[in-house]
Amino acid sequence: MSSLLKITDLHVSVDEKPILKGVSLELRQGEVHALMGPNGSGKSTLAYTLVGHPKYEITDGTIEIDGVNVNELDPCERARRGLFLAFQYPVTIPGVKVADFLRHAVTNIRNPDRKEGEGLIPMKEFRKELRERMEELGMDLEFARRYLNEGFSGGEKKRMEILQLAMLQPKFAILDETDSGLDSDAVRVVSEGLKKLSGPQMGSLIITHHERLLEYNIPQFTHVMLAGRIVETGDAALAHELHNQGYAAIRERHPAEAEEQERRAAAGLPAVAGAK
Ligand SMILES: Nc1ncnc2c1ncn2[C@@H]1O[C@H](COP(=O)(O)OP(=O)(O)O)[C@@H](O)[C@H]1O
Ligand SMILES: [Mg+2]
Repeated sequence: MSSLLKITDLHVSVDEKPILKGVSLELRQGEVHALMGPNGSGKSTLAYTLVGHPKYEITDGTIEIDGVNVNELDPCERARRGLFLAFQYPVTIPGVKVADFLRHAVTNIRNPDRKEGEGLIPMKEFRKELRERMEELGMDLEFARRYLNEGFSGGEKKRMEILQLAMLQPKFAILDETDSGLDSDAVRVVSEGLKKLSGPQMGSLIITHHERLLEYNIPQFTHVMLAGRIVETGDAALAHELHNQGYAAIRERHPAEAEEQERRAAAGLPAVAGAK
């Protein structure tokens, strides 16, 4: 049986301000979903809420994994149940090498009850696994010896993201991609990497406008957000249409939400990016 991430009528507030207003979505292992929508429509809010960022308060609705409500579970607990979020703005951790970071991350998922400092996956076993995954992805082994995100190019940050996905093997991968500032190397890395990792074991929710990402990873479902709601769900053709024609037609079809979206933008709320 494939696993199911089920979001039902989710309402979320940030600093007491309602942002998501009833989002429902079902993501199955093995499926590819695209989540699109203009800036400030609530895409990142949904991503952060799913992984349990403390700033995002669920005021109504549920997030369930295989029928278990995870609303109150902390981010680690959710990760153990198979959720993974690739951050838009990954952190730099000085003095920590890629391989060390991954060894801890993988251990935490597979052996959640270990005490701090104990029971890391044996080095030999871990190295072998890391080497295999890197070879499959066509990555240079030298990369694992680099310090995490320190001086990484856009493409290298994406390589790190993909390598994390490959090692952690989540059931549900949520990729929140910036639409600006990603060079073509970075887009290629993430497009090809995700394609290689995709299969019946992983469901993905891809937040992006990058045509290439969705050409490599053709979504079975495309969801469009406006003013904190999913206003339309279609297939890959909808993603294609939005990419070519923008959101004008969507706004026309959903005038009330479009107006609310305009009002929110005009209220001058900062466009929130990443884990601020
Ligand atoms: N941490 C936050 N603090 C204050 N406002 C936020 C925060 N996160 C999101 N918002 C607001 O929520 C709305 C949706 O933002 P976001 O989820 O980042 O949209 P998107 O990712 O679709 O561009 C915006 O109006 C934004 O200003
Ligand atoms: Mg965003």
